[in-house]
Amino acid sequence: MTSIPPIPAERLPQLLRRMPKAELHIHIEGSLEPELIFAMAQRNGVAIPYASVDELRRAYAFTNLQSFLDIYYAGASVLITERDFFDMAWAYLEKARADNVVHAEIFFDPQTHTARGVAMETVIHGLHRACEQARQQLGVSASLILCFLRHLSEVDAFETLEQALPFQDKFIGVGLDSSEVGHPPEKFAKVFARCRELGLHLVAHAGEEGPPAYVWTALDLLKVERIDHGVQSSRDPQLMRRLAQDRIPLTVCPLSNLKLCVFPKLEQHNIRELLDAELMVTVNSDDPAYFGGYLNENFEQTFAATGLSAAQAWRLANNSFEASFIGPAHKRSFRDRLDAVFAEFA
Ligand code: HPA
Ligand code: ZN
Repeated sequence: MTSIPPIPAERLPQLLRRMPKAELHIHIEGSLEPELIFAMAQRNGVAIPYASVDELRRAYAFTNLQSFLDIYYAGASVLITERDFFDMAWAYLEKARADNVVHAEIFFDPQTHTARGVAMETVIHGLHRACEQARQQLGVSASLILCFLRHLSEVDAFETLEQALPFQDKFIGVGLDSSEVGHPPEKFAKVFARCRELGLHLVAHAGEEGPPAYVWTALDLLKVERIDHGVQSSRDPQLMRRLAQDRIPLTVCPLSNLKLCVFPKLEQHNIRELLDAELMVTVNSDDPAYFGGYLNENFEQTFAATGLSAAQAWRLANNSFEASFIGPAHKRSFRDRLDAVFAEFA
């Protein structure tokens, strides 16, 4: 759709909910709702230091990335069996379907589980089975991206890769997450080079809290195809030009940035500045159980706070398909579905 038909402002929230979209930045462990944490803790006999679902939810008051990660890793400690991994992913995929997410590329953090004695096979089989079932029963396509934890060593990342390779047909790429500042991308240059040789897609978190320099090294040393977050890039005009010229997607997560105090208010988020600089921005939920909303909440609250337009909604949804790792025919078919919904609203 080259020109977006005029759409009355009062219909924009409904359009945001209805439009088909892809989600490219969702940590599956960050979709684990407190109710599910308690249910799994009970069925697995795992102790958690919170008396109730409400008490756990009240602990979700974060001041920065690390304050969130401490609780996020504690929450993930209830995941033991293949069924747990399946149930977690299935709950997310049902939410995704309800938000008109037609395709999801889902991060998982195997080291969080293998370090507790859970087998790699248990993690990957549970998650993969949910993705397969979603394709058949929900009409949502979903694939997995294995993330290395950057606060651990590159040797640990290599060991994790070795453990995962027997299941290489069940994930499409690798990413880099966890504590950013003090753990620059270059720490993982060798393992990313190996993953590149193996034909895996490459992404990395950079410029969430860390400096623009981390975005440069993620691009130039790790050779990633997308930057996760990347919002700090606006502090470096030369980097902004590079991102625009090379059409490097940024998977922006507005409610995450708000809850982790990257921006003091959603009104002050720089998404409009990134779009105005012609960057390939996408909107994503990051860790929706912890940050107060799934994908449609991210769209609705961001548009309400920053006043983005219907044309920008179309662009963000189309970017989500363009930036995904699906083939050109699938991209075209999702774009046709997007245009059909916009035509209905005109
Ligand atoms: N940043 C880094 N690591 C993470 C995040 C994030 O937003 N969510 C889960 N792990
Ligand atoms: Zn993230």
